[in-house]
Amino acid sequence: MRTLKHLFEKNKAWAEKISSAQPGFFKELSQQQFPEYLWIGCSDSRVPANEIVGLQPGELFVHRNVANIVIHTDFNCLSVIEYAVEVLRVKNIIVCGHYGCGGVKASLKDNQLSISDNWLRHIREIAQKHETELSQIKIESERMDRLCELNIIEQVHNVCNTTIVEKAWSRNQPLAVHGWIYGLTDGLLHDLNVCTSSAEEMKTYFERK
Ligand code: CO
Repeated sequence: MRTLKHLFEKNKAWAEKISSAQPGFFKELSQQQFPEYLWIGCSDSRVPANEIVGLQPGELFVHRNVANIVIHTDFNCLSVIEYAVEVLRVKNIIVCGHYGCGGVKASLKDNQLSISDNWLRHIREIAQKHETELSQIKIESERMDRLCELNIIEQVHNVCNTTIVEKAWSRNQPLAVHGWIYGLTDGLLHDLNVCTSSAEEMKTYFERK
């Protein structure tokens, strides 16, 4: 299968459906984009950013990686955040993880010495940091669910601590960072209530933890 013909057929049907409902949609969109949201999510195929929140092309700027991790030396992720905040002027950054995340689960397994272990090491450190809380959860699946949530909260904190977001807040640019989790079993999003929209709010929220 050298051409993946079925995907081109699906693409054609998709483009035609949108064009017939909204004539000129693609031409108009090709001129510029004004997304209000940056989505930082997991690469998992079951968590498709636009579909989950019912947004069309042009409405969501997206960065995805294994287990939705934001690291201060990841220039791929930082470049996306910088472009979204400084050029597109998004008003919201959403870090969205999901329950049952394979990356989160794998982070606690014994080291296999693969490249991804280095990546997932960041989550292992989160588990170590919150060991007291996690060790009190006796059911493994529930403990894993909590680690999925804690990972998102830590990544929200990391986004807030980037120089990009710090600079945006210091010039009073409206920008909120959210932490959400998606349920694979019911298709629903849950707000982890860590929305942070200023440096003061970040200090208040993360220092009381
Ligand atoms: Co995942």
